[in-house]
Amino acid sequence: MKHIITPPSFELSALEPYFDAATMDFHVNKHHQGYADKLNAALDEFPDLQSSSLEELVTLDIKDYPAIHNTAGGVLNHNLFWSILSPQVDQPFPESVHQTLVKHFGAIDNFKQEFTAKASVFFGSGWTWLVADSQNNLKIISTPNQDNPLAQNLTPIIGLDLWEHSYYLKYQNRRPEYIDAFWHILNWKQVETNLQQP
Ligand SMILES: [Fe+2]
Repeated sequence: MKHIITPPSFELSALEPYFDAATMDFHVNKHHQGYADKLNAALDEFPDLQSSSLEELVTLDIKDYPAIHNTAGGVLNHNLFWSILSPQVDQPFPESVHQTLVKHFGAIDNFKQEFTAKASVFFGSGWTWLVADSQNNLKIISTPNQDNPLAQNLTPIIGLDLWEHSYYLKYQNRRPEYIDAFWHILNWKQVETNLQQP
């Protein structure tokens, strides 16, 4: 089985001015596609894993399968990232999302502040996530490199890419501006769908 990326459902320029077209082009067609190409090449050496899903591959121990662990994460993480972005700027919160976030974080603003703080202080390349555990408790975590929360038995709901390739062309070292832009183009309808998944 050859793994392919799930690209954004919108034009790569559609998130302007928040995420610029040049960054999106590199991000999707070079970085994301590159992870899929490298994953497929790495799997050539592991016939037993060739029918495994991305969700299974990201849980492989990085010590035993470093190339597969990292590249499968690179494909799956970006698949999620594109799905939770939308050209429909400043989407209203679906009522169920509002209720869920208030229940777990006290207020929407608390959630956004906690998530922003966690993403802002994360050192190096990685991701900040809203995840659900097996009891459906929500929490905010960061993971290094291309680690996916599934490896910790946590289900990703929202993921924010903190690699510099996500923002350096437009924002250089100003990660807080990139995080602020992210909130404007977050696809809350997809977040609602992700929250409803078992
Ligand atoms: Fe990325």
